[in-house]
Amino acid sequence: MKMMRMCTLLLLLLSACLTPSLVHSGSELSVPQTVSVQKDLASQTLTLSWRSEASHFDMEIYHTELMELVLNESIWVEADSKTGSRDWTWRSAVPLECTSRSVRIRARHVDAVSQWSPLLTVPGMDVPDQPQAQMFPQDRVLEVGGNVTVCCITPVGVAFSSLGYGNQNLAAFRLSRRSFSATITDLHKSSYTGTNVVCLSDTSILTGTVLFIGYPPGDEGLQCETRDLQSAECRWSKGRDTGLKKRDLLTKYTLNNRSCTEDRRDRKLCRSDRWESSWTLVAKNPLGMVQLSDSAHINQRIRLLAPVSVMSDAEAWQARVGWSWTVEAYKTLSLLCEVQLDSGGHAHTRNYTGVGLSSVVLDRLRPDSEYSFSIRCASVRYFWRWGDWSAPYSLHTLMDRPNAPDIWVWRTNESTGQVVWKSVSPWDSHGALTAYEVSQRDRGEDGWTTVSLPPSESSTPISLSNSSDVTVAVAARNPVGLSQRSTVTVPQYTADSELSVSELVGNGGGLTVSWNGSHSSTQGYVVEWVPTCCPASSTCSVQWERVSPSNTSTIIQSGSLDPGVQYTVSIFTLLPEASVLLQRYYGYGQEQVPSQSVAALSAVQSGSDVVLSWTPVPVCKQKGFILGHTVYLADASNLSLIANLTDPALSSYTVKSLPLGSYKFTVRSYTSAGEGMESTIAIKTESDTDLMLVEILVALGAMSICLIIITIFCYKKREWVKKAFYPEIPGPKLTGDWSAPPGPLDLKPPPHSLVHIVESPDKEGLVTVPGGEEEGRHDDEDDNQNVEMDTDSDEPALLRYYNQLVSDASDCSTSSMDSAQTQVTYTGIQSPAYRPQNQPEALMEAEPQEESPSAGYKPQCSWRPDSPENENLCDSLGSPTSVTSSQFLIPESSEEHPESSGSWFQNLLSGKF
Ligand SMILES: *[C@@H]1O[C@H](CO)[C@@H](O)[C@H](O)[C@H]1NC(C)=O
Ligand SMILES: *[C@@H]1O[C@H](CO)[C@@H](O)[C@H](O)[C@H]1NC(C)=O
Ligand SMILES: *[C@@H]1O[C@H](CO)[C@@H](O)[C@H](O)[C@H]1NC(C)=O
Ligand SMILES: *[C@@H]1O[C@H](CO)[C@@H](O)[C@H](O)[C@H]1NC(C)=O
Ligand SMILES: *[C@@H]1O[C@H](CO)[C@@H](O)[C@H](O)[C@H]1NC(C)=O
Ligand SMILES: *[C@@H]1O[C@H](CO)[C@@H](O)[C@H](O)[C@H]1NC(C)=O
Ligand SMILES: *[C@@H]1O[C@H](CO)[C@@H](O)[C@H](O)[C@H]1NC(C)=O
Repeated sequence: MKMMRMCTLLLLLLSACLTPSLVHSGSELSVPQTVSVQKDLASQTLTLSWRSEASHFDMEIYHTELMELVLNESIWVEADSKTGSRDWTWRSAVPLECTSRSVRIRARHVDAVSQWSPLLTVPGMDVPDQPQAQMFPQDRVLEVGGNVTVCCITPVGVAFSSLGYGNQNLAAFRLSRRSFSATITDLHKSSYTGTNVVCLSDTSILTGTVLFIGYPPGDEGLQCETRDLQSAECRWSKGRDTGLKKRDLLTKYTLNNRSCTEDRRDRKLCRSDRWESSWTLVAKNPLGMVQLSDSAHINQRIRLLAPVSVMSDAEAWQARVGWSWTVEAYKTLSLLCEVQLDSGGHAHTRNYTGVGLSSVVLDRLRPDSEYSFSIRCASVRYFWRWGDWSAPYSLHTLMDRPNAPDIWVWRTNESTGQVVWKSVSPWDSHGALTAYEVSQRDRGEDGWTTVSLPPSESSTPISLSNSSDVTVAVAARNPVGLSQRSTVTVPQYTADSELSVSELVGNGGGLTVSWNGSHSSTQGYVVEWVPTCCPASSTCSVQWERVSPSNTSTIIQSGSLDPGVQYTVSIFTLLPEASVLLQRYYGYGQEQVPSQSVAALSAVQSGSDVVLSWTPVPVCKQKGFILGHTVYLADASNLSLIANLTDPALSSYTVKSLPLGSYKFTVRSYTSAGEGMESTIAIKTESDTDLMLVEILVALGAMSICLIIITIFCYKKREWVKKAFYPEIPGPKLTGDWSAPPGPLDLKPPPHSLVHIVESPDKEGLVTVPGGEEEGRHDDEDDNQNVEMDTDSDEPALLRYYNQLVSDASDCSTSSMDSAQTQVTYTGIQSPAYRPQNQPEALMEAEPQEESPSAGYKPQCSWRPDSPENENLCDSLGSPTSVTSSQFLIPESSEEHPESSGSWFQNLLSGKF
């Protein structure tokens, strides 16, 4: 500080020294006289006034304290003609309050200069007698995008730290010991409260200022109009927001030099009591002003007020609407009025014109309907704008007689029919319906017989006889009255079998029906469609459509056709006295796959072929026209198509030349929509028995021939054979006659089925010992002396057994099954007579459970007379059918059982020989 003061003093001394020297050098140019300086803080200017002979001057301005040169200019200034003084104004970028300025001036003429005038100092606010903190400029209004220089004067003894603007620190320059400045460029629009700039010490906010940054007014589009043909209302739009919200910074408006009485809510409206030919609006704020103008004749700017006191007088089909005007002058204006009618959400407008229009007739209304309407009008001569809408009013039209219903008679069979009608819609009922009246009149009779039905009904059955023509009429009734009668002459019943019925298939978008319009006198056609399969229990609705006489085709919309349902479509022509069936179709709106499979599928083998047959899918389950059937052969995993029968009438198919085996066949019906469900049948084909028989017979014949040849050979060469195979062994010499008596020999069983029945001491049961083990041995009768001996010795026992056997025919066999070769069971071998030899019953039952060491013996059954099942089982075991033998059975046994020949055959075929 001391240094600064020293410098200032030095400079002052220097200038004091300089002045005499300049006076010395150039004496012809005089120093400017009576120099004075004024400051204007509002405009931040210094104005210098002086008197001088010269007109060219050098000017210097310093920041006094630091003697910092802020202006060094050479200027030309002419003298004011009146006063003779010369004035020059300088605008400071840094607010004048920030620091003191010193000014001096000298005259110049080319290179010659006068001495400097004495320094004139304009004090700032940083002088010692203003010790408090200050900031400049205060509450300045600035334009967005501009620049401003602010300064902060610190209090005496407090160190300056920084200047803050929003949240940024500004670069500060020292102007004097206590004063610091900073420049803010590209100012942004302030918020509602302005933008703060603060001066900070190290510890606190010293002081601050508020800047209001915004725009000059941007208003535009002034338009003035009249509502009452006297006063004016002018409107404009505000344009860009000025951003200046402080009350004294708001834009001020004047309309034709009169301060604008602004509408409080709508600031863009200004009223005037009188219409003027031209209008000027001035909008002004601290940053600038705009001027808007408009001019028009009052008649071109009429906007009417809303009609009031609207009244309506409704009838069934029209209504008269009247209103009044609040402005008398409207009554002379040519008006265009618009009425907006709204009924059930459907709105439309109508225009009416007239001088001072105050009532209109709304026609083409529906009876018994609620309408809401409102009105607005405009001057039609110079259409400026529509006036205000009236409030919405409502009216209800009166009821009227209903429209006649659409009726038809559906013939269900020879003696009955159904009168059907389409319910009258609210649109056509003209008031809530109270009843339908159905009338009937036979030809030749005058009177109608009428029944009244509730409005919920839409059909009623009717009894008819086929002898007379009957006319049926239906009318709808509402509180106002009865509609016209719809009449129809009942058509004849025609069964499907009485005419040829064609097929029709829709394409999903409806069913196109066409016919030959043969009758020239027709009054039109009726296309009737009803589901073909109509179970009596369910309600099956008939539908119909009237077609004008000029058309001979129509499209039944797909919405009225259920997919997969067959409809019987009948076309009637309406003649004056009759309804005549023209044509009948079966049709599907949309075909589906059959919903049921073919029934009663059967497969029958016929030789190497298999014949499949089935009954077709019933009509009601077809869901489409059956186009044919597919036959598949099914194996474990897949189906292979073996036939595609395109004739839908076919209901059988022959699969040819199948090798033996098991097969599964699947049959499906298909319509144009595809294949439906399948029926499957399995069959196992068996070899052809006739062919087998022939083969067997041939084989048997061949074998027999062989045997005969061998036998003949053996007989011829019997000596040689005997020698070769059975050399003669000398027999024992016996005395006496050993020839056997002839009686008992007759009872002997045939040798080839000889059974040795022995009494087994271990088992105490019967064991059949195989006989005839060696074929060769019993062929030769002579040499079997050992056997014969045995036979002889056993003979008495055998006979005894045989005697017992003959008395009883059926019993269980407990014979052993050891030998597969000779599982021979003789019917009747066991009998109750054997019982003493059998074990007691209990023991017999227990025996199978015992682990018998002798493995060969397994009793098949025990004899139990109480148990019929067992008896049956025993029967079967004991019967010849169970015999599996390498030899043919004895003829006696076969004859005993008639079925045995078949069984014998089966055994023969099963290949066990
Ligand atoms: C003022 O400007 C003139 C010419 O432009 C120059 O000669 C003079 O030195 C300047 N004065 C100061 C104090 O810088
Ligand atoms: C603001 O300052 C910048 C640079 O300091 C200058 O380019 C610009 O012209 C100034 N704008 C106004 C409106 O003075
Ligand atoms: C408004 O006043 C100014 C002067 O005060 C005048 O020049 C101007 O013509 C006036 N404008 C109207 C529309 O009266
Ligand atoms: C009524 O008049 C106005 C104005 O001429 C026109 O825009 C509108 O289309 C008219 N409305 C009807 C329904 O004619
Ligand atoms: C005709 O149909 C009605 C019911 O629909 C039935 O009662 C009547 O027996 C039927 N008549 C003949 C002839 O089939
Ligand atoms: C209808 O007419 C046929 C022959 O014309 C007759 O056999 C039958 O009985 C009649 N049916 C009725 C209900 O009159
Ligand atoms: C059967 O034949 C009909 C008509 O040719 C065809 O549309 C269908 O696709 C065939 N079915 C199969 C499974 O090949």
